[in-house]
Order: sequence, then C-alpha cells, then structure tokens
Amino acid sequence: MTATLDFGGRTVVVIGGTSGINRGIALEFARHGARVAVASRSPEKVEDTVAALNRAGAETATGAAFDVRDAAAVADGLASFHDELGDFEVLVSGAAGNFPALAAEMSVNAFRTVIEIDLLGTVHVMKAAYPFLKRPGASVINISAPQSYLPYEGQAHVCAAKAGVDQITRTLALEWGPEGIRVNSVVPGFIDGTEGAERLAPTDKARAGVLADIPLGRLGSLADMANICLFLGSDLAGYVSGTVIAVDGALYQRGSGRLGQMLGQMLRAAPEAG
Ligand code: COA
Ligand code: NAP
Repeated sequence: MTATLDFGGRTVVVIGGTSGINRGIALEFARHGARVAVASRSPEKVEDTVAALNRAGAETATGAAFDVRDAAAVADGLASFHDELGDFEVLVSGAAGNFPALAAEMSVNAFRTVIEIDLLGTVHVMKAAYPFLKRPGASVINISAPQSYLPYEGQAHVCAAKAGVDQITRTLALEWGPEGIRVNSVVPGFIDGTEGAERLAPTDKARAGVLADIPLGRLGSLADMANICLFLGSDLAGYVSGTVIAVDGALYQRGSGRLGQMLGQMLRAAPEAG
C-alpha cells in the first residue's frame, strides 16, 4: 500500500470545527481535497467555516449547528453528514469549554457544564459516529489537553473531563481495533492566538512565562495541530492507535510549569476574575 496525503474522495468530520485549532484542522484537510463536515453551536460560525472550506479546496463542504451536550441532536447531525458525504474516514472530536476557576469557588453547575461539553460530548460524538466509521480504515482523533494527565490549579473541571476523554480513547482503541478503526488523542501545546490559550494566559506577562517554559522556544501554531491530524488521518499512521500524542514543543515535560502556578496565583489574587 502506498500512503498518501491526498484526501480526495475521503470524508473528514470535525466536531467543534468552527474556530481555533479544530477549524485549522478542518481547513488543512480541505486543502488536501477532502469532503469535510464541521459542527458547532453557532449557525453563523458554521456558515462562515463552510465557506472557508470551499475556498480552501474541499471536494465538498457541509456543516450543522448543534450542541454536543444534546445526544439526539448529535445523532441527527452525524446521520445527515453520513447521508451527504458517506462513511467517515476521519473523525475529529474537539468541542470543549474552559474557564479558570478554583474548585471551592466553582458552582456544581459550572463543573457539570465542562464535564457535559468535554466528556459527555465526546461520548455522544463517539456513539453517534460509530455506525458511520469506515471499516477498515477509519481514524478517530480526540482533541485532549495536558489537563488530562497534569494537575493545574483552577482547572479541576477540565482535568477531570479530559482525563476521561483520554481513557475513552484508550478503551475504544481496544474495542474498535478489531474492526480496523484507530482511535488516538492529540494534546495541543500552548497554541498561539486561540481562545483556549487566551483564557488561561490572558496577559502578556502570562504568555511570556509560558514561552519561557517551552524548550523548542516558540508557541504552537494552528499548522502544528493540523499537521499531526493529517498524519493520524492518513495511512502513514496505519499502525498508530490508543496513544495520546502531545504536540507541545516539549512544554509538558516540565509538568504544569509556570502556567499552572500563575493560574492559581491569578485566581487567588482576584477570585472575581475567574
Ligand atoms: N468562572 C466560574 N464559573 C463560570 C465561569 C467562570 N469564568 N463561566 C461560566 N461559569 C459557570 C456559570 O456561572 C454557570 O454556573 P451557574 O449556573 O451555577 O451560575 C455554568 O458555568 C454554566 O455557564 P453558562 O454561561 O450558562 O454556560 P454555557 O453553556 O452558555 O457556556 C462555557 C459554556 C461556560 C464553557 C462557555 O465559556 C463556552 O461556551 N465556552 C466555549 C469556548 C471555550 O471555552 N473555548 C476554550 C476551549 S479550551
Ligand atoms: P475554541 O476556538 O473555543 O474552539 C472550540 C470549538 O468548539 C468552537 O468551534 C466552538 O464553537 C465549539 N464548541 C464549544 N462548545 C460546544 C458545544 N457545547 N457544542 C458544540 N460545539 C461546541 O477553542 P481552541 O482553543 O481552539 O481549543 C480547541 C480544542 O483544543 C479544545 O478541545 C481544547 O480543549 C483543546 N486545547 C486547546 C489548547 C490551546 O492552546 N488553545 C490547549 C490544549 C487543549 P461554538 O461556539 O459555535 O459552539
């Protein structure tokens, strides 16, 4: 078999694909000729992204607006993508919500909200997509976070949710492997210009602190994230399953580092800012 990065005739579905990292991933698959579908809550963001996918060179582009917390809406949305585009070769599940807040100061509903988006949302997407995944050959990519395996002050909700996401990844790699379906997680480094990075390091000082901790000496880019997904989605990664891959310039080898400390200090100094 010759591995190829030509995604012509292949269907790529990106949940939460209308901004930041996930939109960058969807656009990169479009540039490689894929049929691409994106979904998120905002119809305007979906419409704007579908137009951008078409401009980028997608064979076909489509989208749907739904909330990953609504299992029935996720099922309807993915069924419509399947009707339109056929079996899914690549499924990226990346919808997430995050805000810094100390556990003792967070309402139960605040904690639940992040669990419902990040963790239950992933369950909804995995279950709804399962019948539509190409067998053999599908690649499922969950977008995780370092909070999955590193504790960060002010991130108890995200740590709990993303740890669950990665355990789903590992478990489904076992359960779905015999059908020829690969399942992996990708952990983004500190990705420049994104909502997630802005929420955790909102000041120049905080960003400079993160940068100083990155051994490769630069912040991550949308292209860094898109490239790893292109690889995982291709036959080049045909024997890669059940892994959690950090694309972080070695940042997380330092644990939660300065960012973890700064978050705790920031929230204690100004709890209302969380
Ligand atoms: N600190 C503490 N609690 C917060 C909070 C903050 N900064 N932001 C929201 N909450 C709480 C709310 O007060 C509410 O709890 P309550 O009912 O006890 O008051 C709960 O979280 C839900 O908030 P709500 O605004 O109703 O949720 P939503 O469903 O409209 O939005 C969020 C979900 C809060 C995660 C929102 O930030 C979001 O949509 N994020 C998506 C984008 C994102 O986070 N990107 C980064 C990805 S890493
Ligand atoms: P982002 O720009 O806020 O993207 C989040 C996407 O998910 C948006 O398209 C959003 O669109 C959608 N979304 C949010 N809640 C949703 C819901 N309930 N239902 C359906 N869609 C929903 O965030 P980002 O910073 O690029 O992060 C993307 C992913 O990378 C996340 O999984 C995050 O945890 C992970 N990550 C990011 C970083 C970083 O440096 N940015 C670091 C580590 C991990 P709508 O608003 O239209 O719903």
